[in-house]
Amino acid sequence: MMGQSLTTSRRTASIFLTISCAVLGCAPRVGTPSPVAASPAVARIPAAILADSLFWRTLHAGAYDSIPRAMVAMKAAYLQDPADAQTAAHVAFLHAWRIAERARLQRTSPAITDEAILARRYYDQSIAHERVYDARIHGFDAVFRMVEGDIHHDPALWAEGLRVGREAIVAWPEFNWFTIGYVLSTSPDTSVLFREGLEMQWKTVNSCGRTTVDRSNPTAEAALAALRTEADPLRMRACTNTWIAPHNMEGFFLNMGDMVVKSGDWRAAQKVYALAKGAEAYPSWPFHDILSDRIRDAERNVGEFRKENAPLMFRSSFSCSACHQAAR
Ligand code: HEC
Repeated sequence: MMGQSLTTSRRTASIFLTISCAVLGCAPRVGTPSPVAASPAVARIPAAILADSLFWRTLHAGAYDSIPRAMVAMKAAYLQDPADAQTAAHVAFLHAWRIAERARLQRTSPAITDEAILARRYYDQSIAHERVYDARIHGFDAVFRMVEGDIHHDPALWAEGLRVGREAIVAWPEFNWFTIGYVLSTSPDTSVLFREGLEMQWKTVNSCGRTTVDRSNPTAEAALAALRTEADPLRMRACTNTWIAPHNMEGFFLNMGDMVVKSGDWRAAQKVYALAKGAEAYPSWPFHDILSDRIRDAERNVGEFRKENAPLMFRSSFSCSACHQAAR
């Protein structure tokens, strides 16, 4: 009985793969897919490796318009091997990017909200197949639960997202203080949650620099010096510019500056924005103009950023690219 139903479901899966590949144009896998238990699937299928290389080229180029092309490759790989946690995560990141930088679209359709639902679904899928707890994926999964909670006016889902997010913070604070605090940047400026989100950014700076920065006169020299000898790889990855996020530091301070402006302290915010200039890769960062406008307009933006749907970095056309786009 067992064997028979397994065979049937395998055959169904095989037919489904063939159909979806016929539609999507991927190379159908030859033979019967193995049951999950028998395939540790440590090795990735070639389609996943190829799709990943297109994925990274697209993200590092900030080529938002090429998301559909990368998505076809990524999803074709996913259909061949849905148990590959990295493939599932990258499908999710493409959906996440599409909704996050929707300001780039000439016209935004209300249907863009489906991207959040799909992102969350694929992050869940990635988590279901993860071999080790990846706090980054859990952090993004949490954020998209919160976004979905907003879409459906479902406070319980939103709260569940924040709860999962807090767990992810414990696992990798320097990465997830930013991630969870970033979504809280859109909470009302007078709210406890906005204050907490801003506090998370200060905690990141303090922890990355193993120091306590002066909030009215923040400088980065001590932090940069500390990072030069930092031995903890998780801190290095979350706190510095890397291959994955070539302008992580610049993007981080751009968002933090926005949050400090929104809190009302625009003079301190100007100094926070300026910290982006201390990053070694700053000369090749594609967003110099945005940064100088933010510094110039800091005082005026206090009112702007407190409005509903304010043009904070979180809602901007560079909400991912500020950190992930390598150069123009
Ligand atoms: C403040 C900078 C910053 C912003 C903004 C940001 N990221 Fe990241 N991102 C990072 C850092 C840092 C990492 C972790 C680097 C590491 O793992 O070594 C990361 C990791 C990733 C990864 C790596 C996953 C993997 O498989 O290794 C992807 C993909 C990604 N981010 C996509 C996005 C998308 C999409 C957005 C927008 C919704 C975004 N990021 C916003 C800094 C940022």
